[in-house]
Amino acid sequence: MSKGLDGNSPPMPSPTRIFAALALASVFPSALALDVCTQIQQAVSSASGVYSLGARSANFAADLAHWVESSTQSSACSVEPGTPADVSIVIQLLGKTKTPFAVKGGGHSGNPGFSSTTGVQISMTRFSTVNYDKTTGTVAIGSGLIWDEVYAALEPHGVIVAGGRVSGVGMAGFTLGGGYNWLANQVGLTVDTVTAYDLVRPNGSIVSVTAASDPDLFFALKGGGNNFGIVTQFTLKAFPQGQVWGGVIFYAAAQLPAVTAAVARFASNVTDKKAAIIPGYTTQLGKPVVANIMFYDGPSPPAGIFDEFLAIEHTTEDISTRSFLSLVQSAPANVTAGTRGSFHAVSLLNYTPKILAAIQNETIFWNARLASAGVTATYNVEPFFPNIYTHNTSPTAFPFTRTPPTIPLNLQFTWTSPSSDSIAHAAMRESADYLTQVAVQTGQAVAQAPLYPNYALFGTPLERLYGSNLPRLRAIKARVDPHNIMGLAGGWRF
Ligand SMILES: Cc1cc2nc3c(=O)[nH]c(=O)nc-3n(C[C@H](O)[C@H](O)[C@H](O)COP(=O)(O)OP(=O)(O)OC[C@H]3O[C@@H](n4cnc5c(N)ncnc54)[C@H](O)[C@@H]3O)c2cc1C
Ligand SMILES: *[C@@H]1O[C@H](CO)[C@@H](O)[C@H](O)[C@H]1NC(C)=O
Ligand SMILES: *[C@@H]1O[C@H](CO)[C@@H](O)[C@H](O)[C@H]1NC(C)=O
Ligand SMILES: *[C@@H]1O[C@H](CO)[C@@H](O)[C@H](O)[C@H]1NC(C)=O
Ligand SMILES: *[C@@H]1O[C@H](CO)[C@@H](O)[C@H](O)[C@H]1NC(C)=O
Repeated sequence: MSKGLDGNSPPMPSPTRIFAALALASVFPSALALDVCTQIQQAVSSASGVYSLGARSANFAADLAHWVESSTQSSACSVEPGTPADVSIVIQLLGKTKTPFAVKGGGHSGNPGFSSTTGVQISMTRFSTVNYDKTTGTVAIGSGLIWDEVYAALEPHGVIVAGGRVSGVGMAGFTLGGGYNWLANQVGLTVDTVTAYDLVRPNGSIVSVTAASDPDLFFALKGGGNNFGIVTQFTLKAFPQGQVWGGVIFYAAAQLPAVTAAVARFASNVTDKKAAIIPGYTTQLGKPVVANIMFYDGPSPPAGIFDEFLAIEHTTEDISTRSFLSLVQSAPANVTAGTRGSFHAVSLLNYTPKILAAIQNETIFWNARLASAGVTATYNVEPFFPNIYTHNTSPTAFPFTRTPPTIPLNLQFTWTSPSSDSIAHAAMRESADYLTQVAVQTGQAVAQAPLYPNYALFGTPLERLYGSNLPRLRAIKARVDPHNIMGLAGGWRF
């Protein structure tokens, strides 16, 4: 009887050998994945392309690229499907051969492996059309686009969709996770405005998912991420859009107390649904600073909403009456090549003076503590109005509850050295836990509040993201993807 088949455990490989194998796996694509790349190349139509290192490597590099380098891996090959039928062929081949893969829209996930792989990288870039239908008041949007491109295409029509607030963000991952947008006080989350998903299911069937065609799957796609297949096109409600007012204004350290007081007043006292801000508490040259993005849905804001922000002494500003796209592109959002980074989420009932003081304190504390690791800690404050979730009464995968309404705080940490990855991730978890604790201790019952899946750092328990929706989502997952084909890709898994 041969050893290993008689119930004896095989000898444990030494840690050195395990690490060597992991290192090789991350550099050299497996023979299996390479073989599948060839099969895909032979099976797809001329509308699609398959690329690898060396062969048409400009496409390959673009297909693998992410907002932050820590979300990019070396893949065996990349595929740019050009038609839903080709997406179907690709996903069936990947499923049959159990090949790890990833689906990338705009590549803005801060979680390593969520839209990257050492197997087959799918980039949706060829799904790039924007079709405004005046009759239905909806826009069909290709899943390979970034919001900048969507807004540019809609501008001549005088309409907008409820999408990204800064430049460069992919429309697909954003919309599959939830979507906090500049119009949220007026229309809700982006998921609240989706009327149809063109989906290639994990078994390869091509379907249009609407409230009428498959209410369960329609619900699940509204926040459930990449668990249910590959979306080729989203149909969103269109809203009339004219000129807006706003842009970004920067404050130096000395003004922080005044800025924080103004943010607290905005959060508790402004009731105009057309107004929104994102004050980002961060650091520059070792000093805490705030970059505040202001938005008003109209050519000029009524007196009293933003005056305090404008009156506080500031270092620079770029504020004007402008197009929606111009406002979105006005704030610094793209990072320089080589930047690594992640997001994390905290949920709050409101931005009280106490929680804002704690956020200001965390900014100073963590930027000092992590300076030697080269980590920049940014806290993006998002004081949406309590009515944000009242624009849609149909349940959605995210948020799993709309009462009481909770609003997000976004932690954005960036750095350059891979050796700082674990330091930064640990700090983000500690800081998010601490701020949640401060909120709870000051009367906000948010210990179990929904955390936004598009902000939450990998490893966040699924219960915190999907809560009471989990049983329903797991049942839908079992029906739509019984063989867990989407489990070959990274992401939140039901
Ligand atoms: C600078 C910046 C600004 C941001 N601003 C906002 C904001 O204002 N509001 C907000 O809500 N969020 C915001 N986010 C978070 C954003 O929603 C997420 O990063 C989101 O994942 C981005 O989508 P993407 O397509 O670029 O990401 P990707 O990394 O390409 O994809 C993210 C996830 O979606 C899946 N996916 C992508 N395309 C498809 C598809 N066609 N079919 C199935 N699955 C797919 C991927 O597999 C992956 O799991 C911001 C992020 C950044 C970095
Ligand atoms: C940010 O980067 C994207 C490409 O990822 C680009 O399309 C966009 O124009 C850039 N935005 C700005 C303001 O430079
Ligand atoms: C995929 O699954 C659906 C629902 O279970 C079924 O109707 C369809 O025929 C399947 N398609 C393929 C290509 O197997
Ligand atoms: C909101 O307005 C009220 C009434 O003017 C004022 O008393 C209160 O201090 C304001 N809140 C904040 C946080 O400034
Ligand atoms: C500031 O933050 C640190 C680190 O989280 C914490 O230990 C300290 O108690 C905070 N101080 C205040 C005044 O909130």
